[in-house]
Amino acid sequence: MPMAAASASERAQQLCWWERQVCGIVGVGTIPPHIAFIMDGNRRFARDRGLEVAHGHRLGYEKLEQVLRWCGTLGIKAVTVYAFSLDNFRRSPDEVLAIMRLCGEKLRGMCHHDSLIRRHGIRVRVVGDLGRLSADLQEDILRVEATTAHNARAILTVCLAYTSRHEIAQAVRRLASRYARERGVGSERRGGGGGSSCRAEPRLSVRSSQQHFPTSSHISPRVSPHVSPHISSSVCVSPHRFQF
Ligand code: FPP
Repeated sequence: MPMAAASASERAQQLCWWERQVCGIVGVGTIPPHIAFIMDGNRRFARDRGLEVAHGHRLGYEKLEQVLRWCGTLGIKAVTVYAFSLDNFRRSPDEVLAIMRLCGEKLRGMCHHDSLIRRHGIRVRVVGDLGRLSADLQEDILRVEATTAHNARAILTVCLAYTSRHEIAQAVRRLASRYARERGVGSERRGGGGGSSCRAEPRLSVRSSQQHFPTSSHISPRVSPHVSPHISSSVCVSPHRFQF
């Protein structure tokens, strides 16, 4: 039996006092409908503190969950998370295994009826070269997508085993199907065939590079060679350290 998603005030109650204050202030401005987050800096964060690299990734995920809670409260409709690129497979087998296990654990956790994803009414999609992932992880992906398929408040797209080539191919496919639709030829596949967004491309990308810039944020036109070319503005922040 699907559980009703939390109301706006219930979602705000899940934040601590300063998060509510900041969301209240930020919410007065223009809220982008779609934000992309590029996970970065987990290893540096761990090494700086003498922690295991795998623990850095776990802390990175925890920060992502916190940020997703803020996005839900702000009413952001779509979030794309660039979690693991094809290049990342070149890391040590132990690190890759730790990240894959973490992904599986978290995707399974999203299926629980009281998870952040279910409570916020978020649909989850996972895109990328999924054939490169283990059979177990592919099963976890199918399960979370099926479990959250009817959630309509927002969409979370997780990019796993992604490349810019995949992104560009998806964008071209979307353009071609839009063109065909406008010309009344054929029909667009539901869900856009696995591109990185639901409808609109991300307006803003945030990279958790953990680097410090004089103004605490840094506008950079090119955030990563692996990431979508559609993003119009990007910010590098240090969300691990974004604490009051
Ligand atoms: C980048 O930091 C992070 C990764 C390559 C992996 C991040 C993935 C997760 C935490 C799992 C996410 C799971 C879901 C379901 C969204 P880095 O290792 O490149 O850090 P560095 O720049 O310090 O080397």
